[in-house]
Amino acid sequence: MLTVVVGGFFGDEGKGKVVSYLSMADEVAVGVRCGSVNAGHTVVHDGRVWKLRVVPSAFVRKEAKLLIPPGALIRIDVLLKEMKETGVAGRLFLDPQTGVIEEKHVEAERASEHLKGKIGSTLQGVGAATSDRVLRKLRLARDFEELNDMLADVPNEVHNALRAGKNVIIEGTQGTFLSLYHGTYPYVTSRDTTASAFASEVGVGPRDVDEVVVVFKAYVTRVGGGPLPGELPEDEAVRRGWVERATVTGRVRRVAPFNVELARRAVMINSATQVAVTKADALFPEASMVREWGKLPREVREWVEGLENVLRVPVTLIGTGPEVGAIIDRRKELGFLK
Ligand code: GTP
Ligand code: IMP
Ligand code: MG
Repeated sequence: MLTVVVGGFFGDEGKGKVVSYLSMADEVAVGVRCGSVNAGHTVVHDGRVWKLRVVPSAFVRKEAKLLIPPGALIRIDVLLKEMKETGVAGRLFLDPQTGVIEEKHVEAERASEHLKGKIGSTLQGVGAATSDRVLRKLRLARDFEELNDMLADVPNEVHNALRAGKNVIIEGTQGTFLSLYHGTYPYVTSRDTTASAFASEVGVGPRDVDEVVVVFKAYVTRVGGGPLPGELPEDEAVRRGWVERATVTGRVRRVAPFNVELARRAVMINSATQVAVTKADALFPEASMVREWGKLPREVREWVEGLENVLRVPVTLIGTGPEVGAIIDRRKELGFLK
C-alpha cells in the first residue's frame, strides 16, 4: 500500500507527527521524505524531540528503509548532522539524482531583498538551488564522493517494495497553499507541494497511490508573507494558546481559526482519500491524550463530524498531543484497514 501525506494549509500542520505514527502503525518498509531543508518536521517520541529537515519522520520505525527521492534537495551538512542524531546510518539512501544545495545558494538568497523582505523566505537556498536545477547546472548527489555509499535507485526501491506487498509512505512537506502552482503566489515556496507533485518527486504515477492523507491543524498557521484569511492579532493567539514558533527559522507563526473553504480546496486539489486533524487538544483541552474515538467528549466528536460533512472525506486520524502515540486512529472502524 502506498500512502502520500501532504499539508492542507500553509505547512506545519503536523505531517512529521502523522507520518511517524503511520510508519509504526502500518509497519512501513519504506519511508520517503520529499521537499527540502526549508521544511522542519517535528517528531516527539520516547521523551525526545527531533526537528528534522532531511531525515524521514519514518525513522522511528527501526526496520524501515529511509529514502530521499530524486526530486528532493538536501544540504550535506544538515543530512550528516541529522543522520548522527537519529542514528540511521546504513538504512538511509539518496537517489543519485537528488539535488544538493551549496553555500552559494544560501548566500544568493540571503542577498535577495525580494525573498527576505517581501516573501519572507526561510533563506535556506532552496529556491536558488531549484533555479540552478531548472537551468541544468545544479550538482546532484552522484557528483559528491562522500555520498557514494548512500546512493540507491529510489524509484526502483519504492516499486520493488510495493510489488512485494509492503507498505510505503511518502512524506510531503509544507502545505497546499504554499504551492508554486496552487498557492498564494508570489507568497509561496519554490516547488509544487501537492500530492501529485510528491508522487512525481519520488517516481510513482497516480495509479500507484492508494491513500492520500491531507493533514490539517485544528487552526491555521502561516510563516512569512502573504494573505491569511481571518488572521488573529498576536495577543488573541496567545490567549487561545495557539502560539507556535517555526521549526527552521524560529519565527512566530501567524494564526487564524480553521478555514473550511481552504480545507475544501485542499481536499479537491490533492484528491484526498482521508483527512488527519492535528492539535485537537489545542481547541478542546478535554481531548488531550485521548486515544479512542468513543472517549472523546461529544462536542469534539460533533466538530469532527461537522468537518466530515463539509469536506465529504472521512477524518481518520485525530491528533491529541505532540507525542507520536497521542492520536486517535479511526481507520479500522471506518473500513480503511483490513
Ligand atoms: P512542514 O513540512 O514544515 O510544513 O512541517 P510539519 O507539518 O511536519 O509540522 P511541524 O512539525 O513543523 O509543526 C507542527 C507542530 O505541532 C509541532 O510542534 C508538533 O510537535 C505539534 N503537533 C503535531 N500534532 C500535534 C497534536 O496533535 N497536538 C499537539 N499539542 N501538538 C501537535
Ligand atoms: P522558502 O521556500 O524558504 O523560499 O520560503 C517561501 C515561503 O514559504 C515563506 O513564506 C516561508 O515562510 C514559507 N515556508 C517554506 N517552508 C516552510 C515550511 O516548512 N513551513 C511553513 N512555511 C514554509
Ligand atoms: Mg514545519
